[in-house]
Amino acid sequence: MAAKSFKYIVLGGGVSAGYAAREFAKQGVKPGELAIISKEAAAPYERPALSKGYLFPQGPARLPGFHVCVGGGGERLLPSWYPDNGIELILSTEIVKADVSSKTLTSASGETFKYDTLIIATGSTVIRLSDFGVQGADANNIFYLREIDDADKLVAAIQSKKDGKVVIVGGGYIGLELGAALSMNNLDITMVYPEPWCMPRLFTSEIASFYEGYYANKGIKIIKGTVASGFDSDTNGDVNAVRLKDGRVLDADIVVVGVGGRPLTTLFKGELVEEKGGIKTDGFFKTSVADVYAVGDVATFPLKMYGELRRVEHVGHARKSAEQAVKAIKACEEGSLIEAYDYLPFFYSRAFDLSWQFYGDNVGDTVLFGDNDPSSEKPKFGTYWIKDGKVVGAFLESGTAEENNAIANVAKTQPSVGDIEQLRKDGLTFACKI
Ligand code: FDA
Ligand code: NAD
Repeated sequence: MAAKSFKYIVLGGGVSAGYAAREFAKQGVKPGELAIISKEAAAPYERPALSKGYLFPQGPARLPGFHVCVGGGGERLLPSWYPDNGIELILSTEIVKADVSSKTLTSASGETFKYDTLIIATGSTVIRLSDFGVQGADANNIFYLREIDDADKLVAAIQSKKDGKVVIVGGGYIGLELGAALSMNNLDITMVYPEPWCMPRLFTSEIASFYEGYYANKGIKIIKGTVASGFDSDTNGDVNAVRLKDGRVLDADIVVVGVGGRPLTTLFKGELVEEKGGIKTDGFFKTSVADVYAVGDVATFPLKMYGELRRVEHVGHARKSAEQAVKAIKACEEGSLIEAYDYLPFFYSRAFDLSWQFYGDNVGDTVLFGDNDPSSEKPKFGTYWIKDGKVVGAFLESGTAEENNAIANVAKTQPSVGDIEQLRKDGLTFACKI
């Protein structure tokens, strides 16, 4: 089989790939120059929808509604947009071998693809309980969520196990978002996680206590400080119980596992320099090998504001890093210069009627402000993180667009704080005045 050759190949067909394609089109890519190769069967879509609107019991989100670039507030790129713009979308094609010295990618079916410039956008995969040898973890109806196929399997289980019992393993993003979405489907939910409170990598105990209280008020049971140590299944191989390390046994018709992601860098092991679990890049997303770029979840890049290398698994960075890489590639070709990537970390989540945003860095002392009583009619609260006398991070639940912009601005400009008690009293007003 003869190799197919392209000037540019984006490897991966997720969020970054979609935003890279749009940027290539803006920069005037010529027909036949660009290919996107994805193991998924769907054209790039906004992955965050899978743990939210996709699972709603009424009027769920479905493709083509959430193809990129709607999440970034742009035009939706329907599957037909790619050929209309001379871009080859090569779907259902998994690359199993990459050789950066010969600039060749090989698919599972033996097809070869040659490129002049490669953008690696392979994202993350889920960490599986079977990776830790948890007994019985391959039973039916134990679900993970990364791609639309996973979401379809979960939707089918929700429909076939009406009023059933769900155990959610993990108290991070997936655990909290799916706890809410499945509870909205009238399922009986128990969440289990090892830490003393949910989302410990970002939340303080005070932030977490609000969400845990809110979930409890919705009838969700939470078991902390232990892990799933095994699963029992019936004669059909369907899971029916989760055994916990502390000895408790929970009945389960459905299990959802969200115990973290792992960046998909294995294709390039030994070929590209890695750092902090990702592919090391500069502020233009160039890797250690000429003409090879890495963006989104897989890139470990210089976070200019904090003067250190970081890897970020969030959609805002996936979008922006992809655009930056394409701009850098084009600038390189034209012999012009662009500014290095200057990213303000931004995380968000939505569950039930709640919606929070966080900007900046969650280091240093914290100050909680506002009403974080989960039983309040309209709870609204936030937290500032203070390091070396400056506000470096800000979190806000139930903010308006204007208020969220204000906390973003605080995290970006890092104003000094004199009196902590005054900051607590001023709360959101402090951010709105900056
Ligand atoms: P992404 O995972 O989007 O795409 C990678 C693509 O590469 C996939 O199409 C994959 O199939 C393909 N691929 C991988 N290996 C391949 C190979 N060998 N050959 C061919 N194709 C290959 N973030 C956030 O900020 N807010 C949010 O609300 C959410 N919500 C959310 C929900 C769910 C369910 C998930 C799984 C993730 C989120 N995220 C999020 C995280 C966010 O979606 C994530 O950071 C971005 O999708 C990363 O974009 P990438 O393009 O790097 O990877
Ligand atoms: P996560 O890292 O957010 O949370 C993993 C959770 O599982 C943590 O609470 C962790 O301590 C817990 N855990 C670890 N081992 C465990 C075990 N053996 N038993 C029980 N719990 C265990 O990861 P996630 O929630 O799986 O999310 C996966 C990916 O999807 C991440 O990249 C995340 O950023 C992304 N995502 C993001 C959003 C968002 O930004 N709103 C939403 C959904 C998914």
